[in-house]
Amino acid sequence: MRKPVIAIDGYSSTGKSSISKIIAQELGLVHMDTGALYRGITYFALQNCLNNEGEINLSQLFARLNEIHLEFKPIDQELVLFLNGINISNEIRRNDVAANVSLIACQKEVRDCLLETQREIAKNGGVILDGRDIGTVVLPKADYKFFLTASIEERTRRRFLELQSLGIETDENAVMRNLINRDKIDSEREVAPLRKASDAILIDNTHLSKKETIALILSQIDDI
Ligand code: C5P
Repeated sequence: MRKPVIAIDGYSSTGKSSISKIIAQELGLVHMDTGALYRGITYFALQNCLNNEGEINLSQLFARLNEIHLEFKPIDQELVLFLNGINISNEIRRNDVAANVSLIACQKEVRDCLLETQREIAKNGGVILDGRDIGTVVLPKADYKFFLTASIEERTRRRFLELQSLGIETDENAVMRNLINRDKIDSEREVAPLRKASDAILIDNTHLSKKETIALILSQIDDI
């Protein structure tokens, strides 16, 4: 039997990636954290495409997109992101990457460049992709679609704890500003904006634990 294609979209820090990872393990699916791909390109741009003012030069980045090779490799049962052969899984969580990623992600050139990678992995089924436009643009025919949201206070708390656990210094106000800013850019951009697909199931997990959110999603995926 063909395994399903599951799309999980939603706002920043609603737990999309960690929830998708656990569901993938439970159901024997491959999981792709598509946000990591946009972060990977942003990291490349910060390393290689800065102008004299220290800002990302977009034309330079577009000209070099073909030099970027992003690949997920399994290490200790985790899928780890490599950029041109180098493990960048920690670097992509840095504050400078978080501050710039939404500006990079609203560029059509960047989105086009990542579209095939995402569709290719899903073409034989058996995948769960999490992101912002999976149910609307990348995999509009996905078998199951979910859209996660939660209050900004709760999302700030979660991201702050995650960054602390990674040893990245920050404060809660800065985290909240970054989340609000990213959500605004992601929702208002012209290309593939963050939006709930009309056929996606909406889950507000402000008052739900990760376990409860996972159980709710699994309860909808009943024909496996
Ligand atoms: O999921 P995460 O917070 O790591 O995503 C980082 C950023 O990548 C988002 O704020 C958004 O700008 C961009 N993104 C996107 N489309 C996706 C996944 C992420 O535009 N499918």
